[in-house]
Amino acid sequence: MCGIVGIVKRHGKVVRDLINALKKLEYRGYDSAGIAILSDGEIYVTKGVGTIDKVIDPTKDIKDGSVGIGHTRWATHGEVSEENAHPHVSCNREVAVVHNGTLDGFNAIRNQLMNRGHVFSSETDTEVIAHLIEEKLNEIRDPVKAFSRAVYELKGSYAIASIIKGHNLILLARNKSPLVIGIGNGENYCASDVAALLHKTNRFIFLKDGEIALITPDSVDVWSLNDGIMEKVNRRVEIVDWSPQLLDKGNYEYFMLKEIYEQPYILKKLAKSVYYYKRFSDQLLKYSERGGISIVAAGTSYHAGLIGKFLLSKLAGARSEVIIASEFPEWSSHIGKDDVILAISQSGETADVLEAVRIAKSKEAKVLAITNVPGSTLTRLSDENVFIQAGPEVGVAATKTFLAQVAVLHILSSLISQERTLQIKEELLDISDSLESSMRYIDSASRKISSLLMDKEHVFFLGRGINYPTALEGALKLKEISYIHAEGYPAGEYKHGPLALIEENVPSIVLIPIDDKIRKKIIYNIMEICSRGAFAITIQPKDIDVPSDFSLPLDVKSELTSPMLYVVPLQLIAYYTATSLGRNPDKPRNLAKSVTVE
Ligand code: AGP
Repeated sequence: MCGIVGIVKRHGKVVRDLINALKKLEYRGYDSAGIAILSDGEIYVTKGVGTIDKVIDPTKDIKDGSVGIGHTRWATHGEVSEENAHPHVSCNREVAVVHNGTLDGFNAIRNQLMNRGHVFSSETDTEVIAHLIEEKLNEIRDPVKAFSRAVYELKGSYAIASIIKGHNLILLARNKSPLVIGIGNGENYCASDVAALLHKTNRFIFLKDGEIALITPDSVDVWSLNDGIMEKVNRRVEIVDWSPQLLDKGNYEYFMLKEIYEQPYILKKLAKSVYYYKRFSDQLLKYSERGGISIVAAGTSYHAGLIGKFLLSKLAGARSEVIIASEFPEWSSHIGKDDVILAISQSGETADVLEAVRIAKSKEAKVLAITNVPGSTLTRLSDENVFIQAGPEVGVAATKTFLAQVAVLHILSSLISQERTLQIKEELLDISDSLESSMRYIDSASRKISSLLMDKEHVFFLGRGINYPTALEGALKLKEISYIHAEGYPAGEYKHGPLALIEENVPSIVLIPIDDKIRKKIIYNIMEICSRGAFAITIQPKDIDVPSDFSLPLDVKSELTSPMLYVVPLQLIAYYTATSLGRNPDKPRNLAKSVTVE
């Protein structure tokens, strides 16, 4: 995971800008942080354990200069400690590097470097890069050539930014880890994603795997590195239309709450752009007629994928399967050139999803991608892609992007089925209005429900049909931010095992179908758990009588669109349970927003 950033200016200092950019990247990792600045011809490093605010205090005596790099870490190699925090410097302190990714076989390189007299001060894979660049600079004083020779020896995944004593420039390399270049006036930037730089620019160059780059205050040069030979490439500057305000919490205490509250507006936006998805849905139909559709995703996006499978079958009569991305290598022997992979990823950077896509491409399958982040690796690897238009999501727990993914899957299935194209637009507008007008009510009811869960060890989420994945999503939200054990289950499957866990006062949150036939079945399921002492909380259509200890009625009009309504209280229940327990929902322990390791 980790976030990296770099700034090089013709005039002025970089420390405050680096801190601002790094804060926008904290969602990628926040166990330690650091910056390296070139000032008066020397490299100065400030780093430590904790969040950026804790580690770097710009009011204290920190050296400032016109070029610098920064890092926020999510540990992979080496424990969380000051020594292992980035940036890392070479023995002679001539080179500093920050890195996101994991280097393969770095121990062998490290041993060779140590045999040649290099002294290491951390356990990280990253430090070998600094020492390698130092060696290459001793062979050739040209920083770009020395850097490219060092990069050529690296294997694995990396986004690297490096500064070199005596040079007002930043050197970059990318392979399988995200890295973008931001274009300014008299200053240029680099970062792990566009969100870190939106307050500075909306003009970006997206590096590809196997490329290196040199940025100075007035220039950007990019080369591809083929077998160690550098070939200059021209990269187009692309405009990203996300506004920097979207990265501001405003009056909300946490980004997660702000992002939950943005949902009605996202649905409205999607309702107005149904035809943007037409070309993509045509492609999906075309390829699916040749072979099968395999939906590939992780975490929350996987839950959206399950709903997508349901919709493709129900609305478009299309056969599909859903494979958890990290399992794809073992479960994909049947996939070949006639098949289409529908990859769903908010970040477009999830390593498991990208690996699945690379495997699918090696088998000549087509890859269609649904993502949220412009310029993300998935957009580059796929044959076609569409955006869910949710704007940047900062909270580690995916909320508005789940809703947007589900809405987009509705649009795609409706476009394929043709008959529902106008209807889906109306439905999205209707849910948007209904959410907008009932948000305060849902908020306060969810807060009450959270007070019933706070002291519990286990919470179960049950659903049937299209709301079985919604139940999975409710459980994922609760466990990831409140740390209470939660399990989502198809309500009918419950009696095949988990029912043994039900005892006095164990809460089960049950999502009640609007459809009579399915509702009857779930009512039996509620009776089964309540007769064993469970505490049933129902989220349900209004004006319907269901046995429960606490109910939250909502204005649900159709079974198929109900996940878009039901998920909102589930998100708020998780949010209020976490915050009441004093947990930061934007930065849950051990987790990062973009999981760029397999
Ligand atoms: C969601 O709340 C999680 N933080 C996580 O499961 C996430 O959905 C998963 O890592 C996939 O991310 P992606 O959509 O960016 O690929």
